[in-house]
Amino acid sequence: MRAVAVIPGKPNSVHLTELPRPSVHDIADGKGILVKVLKVGVDATDREINDALYGNAPPGYKFLVLGHESFGIVQEVGPNVRNLKPGDYVAATVRRPGGSIYDTIGTYDMTSEETYFERGINLLHGYLTEYFVDHEDYIVRVPPGLKHLHVLMEPISCAAKAVQQAYEVQRRMKVWRPRVAYVLGAGQIGLLATLILKLRGLDVYCIARSKPGTLSSEIVAGLEATYVSTSETPLEALALKVGKADLIIDATGASAMSFGAMEVLGHNGVLVWTSITGGNHSIEIKSDKINIDWVLGNKLLLGSVNANREHFESGIRDLALGEVMYPGVIQRILTNPVDGLENFSEMMRLLVEEKTALKVYTNVAEE
Ligand code: BGC
Ligand code: ZN
Repeated sequence: MRAVAVIPGKPNSVHLTELPRPSVHDIADGKGILVKVLKVGVDATDREINDALYGNAPPGYKFLVLGHESFGIVQEVGPNVRNLKPGDYVAATVRRPGGSIYDTIGTYDMTSEETYFERGINLLHGYLTEYFVDHEDYIVRVPPGLKHLHVLMEPISCAAKAVQQAYEVQRRMKVWRPRVAYVLGAGQIGLLATLILKLRGLDVYCIARSKPGTLSSEIVAGLEATYVSTSETPLEALALKVGKADLIIDATGASAMSFGAMEVLGHNGVLVWTSITGGNHSIEIKSDKINIDWVLGNKLLLGSVNANREHFESGIRDLALGEVMYPGVIQRILTNPVDGLENFSEMMRLLVEEKTALKVYTNVAEE
């Protein structure tokens, strides 16, 4: 079967390759699921992998099959599978366990080991192919009523984890009633985090560079949140106007913004960093000012990566609720489809050049 791969370490090496078709029997305990791939999304991580800034091939291979945002339909299940059946729509989690205690209890997203295993990213092949097999533990059911949101299951799982982690650490406060949230970045993660925080009842400001009038600003308005353009209202001006934030989620992909956010977090607040910045930028910061401010304000900085099964499930519940509250809004993120694995160059071109693309994805097959 065909697959889209790169040669890690070699810039712009994306190409089509062949792999043997997997079987449910590849999973020893009878809990294998064979998934027919329908759609796969790509994001900045895939771009960085193709730029040779990130990612590694599985042991024994020179190439890495791309694709970590999966959506497919169950084709066949192993004899011991109870919770999934052929015909179910599914998405797969990305990380696979290493050996730390966190890995062994299903929280592989919190591994304490330096090496992490991620399908389509690091040391494991991804989903940009015709079929894949995995253990049922890593396959999450997608309700049929959400199939039009297909490749967003993985991105929302990362946003769901970031928000959940923030609430979890804020249990240090005994009582925490966040009112104002800033979401930095109006790409897919920023928009999905905006949805999740709106559903939690916060006053959400989604902040990006572009002036309003973009698709992102329309989606933010559709979610009844407030879109703020930093070219019109710098962060400090926003903080003076609506108050500093109780919670900030940074999803800009720009580390200067991640640090800039430190100046607009309120007392007892939490700032969550989610950007994967594979580059090598550096900036100067007002370190004394930030330091005293953070100490006197008991502020907290939290990094959040990846997501486990529970985050997929809670993200999917929020998508379902989102469809009821704000019907038809979230699907507007799915901007740029490409038909067929063979059109991988067009997929990469859109990912690199199409600045207005919120989501590039490949239609791999029909049901
Ligand atoms: C993926 C995550 C992954 C992270 C770091 C992101 O693009 O969506 O699942 O953990 O990259 O590799
Ligand atoms: Zn990703």
